[in-house]
Amino acid sequence: QVVSLADYRPTDFVLERVDLTFELDPTETKVETRLIFHRREGADPTAPLVLDGDELVLTSLLFDQIEIDPGRYTATPNLLTIRDLPAAEPFEITITTLINPEANTQLMGLYRSNGIYCTQCEAEGFRRITYFPDRPDVLSVYTVNIIADKAANPLLLSNGNFLGGAGYGEGKHFAAWFDPHPKPSYLFALVAGDLGLVEDTFTTLSGREVALKIYVEHGKEPRASYAMDALKRSMKWDEDVFGREYDLDIFMIVAVSDFNMGAMENKGLNVFNDKYVLADPETATDADYANIEAIIAHEYFHNWTGNRITCRDWFQLCLKEGLTVYRDHQFSADQRSRAVKRIAEVRHLRAEQFVEDSGPLAHPVRPNTYKEINNFYTTTVYEKGSEVTGMIATILGPDLFKAGMDLYFERHDGDAATVEDFVACFAEVSKRDLSQFSLWYNQAGTPNVTVSCAYDVGAGLFTVDLEQVVPPTPGQPNKQPMHIPLRFGLLSAAGAPLAAAGVEGGEVSGDVLHLTERRQTFRFSGIAERPVLSLNRGFSAPVVLHFKQDSADLALIASHDSDLFSRWQALSDLALPVLCESARQTGGKVAAKGRGTKAKSAAVAADPAAAVALTKSLLSIVGDDSLEPAFRAQALALPSEADIARELGSNIDPDAIHRARQALVAEIARAGLDLFGQLVEGMASDAPYSPDAASAGRRALKNAALGYLVQAAQDPAKAAEAYDKADNMTDLSHALGVLVTYFPETEAAQAALGNFQTRFAGNALVLDKWFSVQASIPGDGALARIKALMSNPGFNPANPNRVRALIGSFAFSNPTGFHRADGAAYDFMAEQILLIDKRNPQLAARLLTSMRTWRMLEPTRAEKAKAALSTIEKSSGLSNDVRDIVERMLKG
Ligand code: ARG
Ligand code: ZN
Repeated sequence: QVVSLADYRPTDFVLERVDLTFELDPTETKVETRLIFHRREGADPTAPLVLDGDELVLTSLLFDQIEIDPGRYTATPNLLTIRDLPAAEPFEITITTLINPEANTQLMGLYRSNGIYCTQCEAEGFRRITYFPDRPDVLSVYTVNIIADKAANPLLLSNGNFLGGAGYGEGKHFAAWFDPHPKPSYLFALVAGDLGLVEDTFTTLSGREVALKIYVEHGKEPRASYAMDALKRSMKWDEDVFGREYDLDIFMIVAVSDFNMGAMENKGLNVFNDKYVLADPETATDADYANIEAIIAHEYFHNWTGNRITCRDWFQLCLKEGLTVYRDHQFSADQRSRAVKRIAEVRHLRAEQFVEDSGPLAHPVRPNTYKEINNFYTTTVYEKGSEVTGMIATILGPDLFKAGMDLYFERHDGDAATVEDFVACFAEVSKRDLSQFSLWYNQAGTPNVTVSCAYDVGAGLFTVDLEQVVPPTPGQPNKQPMHIPLRFGLLSAAGAPLAAAGVEGGEVSGDVLHLTERRQTFRFSGIAERPVLSLNRGFSAPVVLHFKQDSADLALIASHDSDLFSRWQALSDLALPVLCESARQTGGKVAAKGRGTKAKSAAVAADPAAAVALTKSLLSIVGDDSLEPAFRAQALALPSEADIARELGSNIDPDAIHRARQALVAEIARAGLDLFGQLVEGMASDAPYSPDAASAGRRALKNAALGYLVQAAQDPAKAAEAYDKADNMTDLSHALGVLVTYFPETEAAQAALGNFQTRFAGNALVLDKWFSVQASIPGDGALARIKALMSNPGFNPANPNRVRALIGSFAFSNPTGFHRADGAAYDFMAEQILLIDKRNPQLAARLLTSMRTWRMLEPTRAEKAKAALSTIEKSSGLSNDVRDIVERMLKG
């Protein structure tokens, strides 16, 4: 059944208040729900009350405290319909349901994770607890009573403020919670069990003292201190930058080990995947620390963008997610290095969102229809949604953007709002017509912008021709031109900024060029010398630029642009054509010789001049001590195999891409041998580990250099030495990765794997790294390795983190292993998806998206991928989640 945005209408009944009483039991939890409703003014006076359910068992139903006549209602596991209700005056419905948390393997609704009761209600999990108008525009005030066995569950938590608790008969106790802020059901949370506590306090801007509590498994308390620190910094930052203060006496975070996503922003009681809470130097990498900081901030920021102002319906998901991602990006940029953060964001956007946007699962930032809302927690809604918010900031400038945000907070506090409400605030404060801009919410597909320039010496005139094409996407064959804000600069031959006397052809405000027509020509006058155009600085618009700049111009930008992002981008633009050409050349040849043939390919032979320019620019940046190490490490990372595949666009042979990239790595390693040696020494530090950005940047540069050194030497010794020397998880797991990825069969690699496994036995989150590094080893051997690792005692197919670490890493991060030419890995994945789907449809559907690029593959592989997808599609008993994805993948 398809849900359409156009069909939205408010409910017939207003929900005044909600009282929930839980009698917790692992297999038979009783939930009593008292709801006070009145019919909405103007609603049909005979309309029945229709409540959502999902696999529910109804044991009692009362109307105004009296058992209801069976003729007045119909109950199925998925729906409760009650008829003959009062036309105007309030009435009370009391519902009792019986649920089984232990059997809830979907991890939606109330479930048990490692002996802890916890909930996940977004998007439609609350209806698995009780019958309810389970939609985000039904806001109500909740009181929650929790009754449970006291010894097993000393802790009883829910949203809002703690009212009180006491004993409750033999061996039991109860606790009562009240949340004064009206909220939709998806923000409900309950946690019960026995957990350790880390406590702190935060005093808000206006002097309110807030108790901060992070609950983790006993013994893991010391590993929650970084999360606590990140929380306090987030609270302070939201006051300083957005003027947003926290609004309850208590803010709680609970870490659980079975969780489908990263975390959830339930009012006053965030529930987290423990992976994004727990960290210490021995067990967490710099990337783990950065993720924890970002996700703690993200969930906290939802308190205003999501909770105080929520979404009218799930089509508006980007209203809270895109905006909140934008906010957490700004936070991390302020805490760390803005340029390096931006590069990482763009890498992620291109690797995930651009791929989604160009394939069968493409959808607008605000979709028009869905069959399963769980499948729309996508990088398009989140990351492109954030980019769209960022473009509003770029178009309006910081002051008007802030004024628009302030207006939004003031006008819509307490509302279930829409994207239109949000955009209207910015249109109003800026007096700009943002209707063309709003196409970013409604048109799917990544715009292609083709650029060409001309310079007329005599006239001092520089012309920039731009053409935009938004490609067709499923359901949207024809597109209108968008408003694309491109930050830019003109550089002299010496790399200095060049100013124009004037510009014609369209709006240019400050350093932002506004492309609004399908084709548009901007003419800059008074330009004394031939300028080099640096376009889309800071990646101000999420578009693909087609701009044939010659190597000399790119090298100039790479070494001189004032925008660090553009310098990194220019390096990437130098590298990609070399890599693509080399992949094209080796691809055909090797395929003809048959699988497994080791190509003696010199990537570089494809275009020696470009390769030389690249190596020179790259090494001069990497060796430039005036630049921050984290930026230099990003430069060394080179375009990924997925980046090359995207650039090629079709007829993808992952083996050829892998060879091409390895050849370039080897070339750069040879050319930079001395520099890399110096960096490995020079970036090392004797100071105790600190996760701060500067220290992490030095480690990143040291480790990137080490990777090149080891490959230049074709000898695992240096990596083995680094493994032995490492005194923190960042260095340790990097050394393990180098050993295992490039020398998988060597004794050194096997020894390190064995050591790692023994050393971290019992620490599942760390062992996930061990699984994932092995799952990512390139080549045909990967599949057998995965199968063997699945019977490792540390692997648990019921835990989403374990599944993502092993099977997910294989499918998403091992292009040559997963796309082996005989298609065996596709068949394996189909089998696994069908098995996982029985237990956890959301996890299965997410894994299935790893095959969304199947049409881009060369024909043999594409054929085999399609066959595996068809097998899934034809299977009986598919979940909605998997059915929706597989059908779209085969159709689009
Ligand atoms: N709102 C959560 C967050 O982004 C994610 C919840 C995802 N839920 C789901 N059913 N997919 O912070
Ligand atoms: Zn979110």
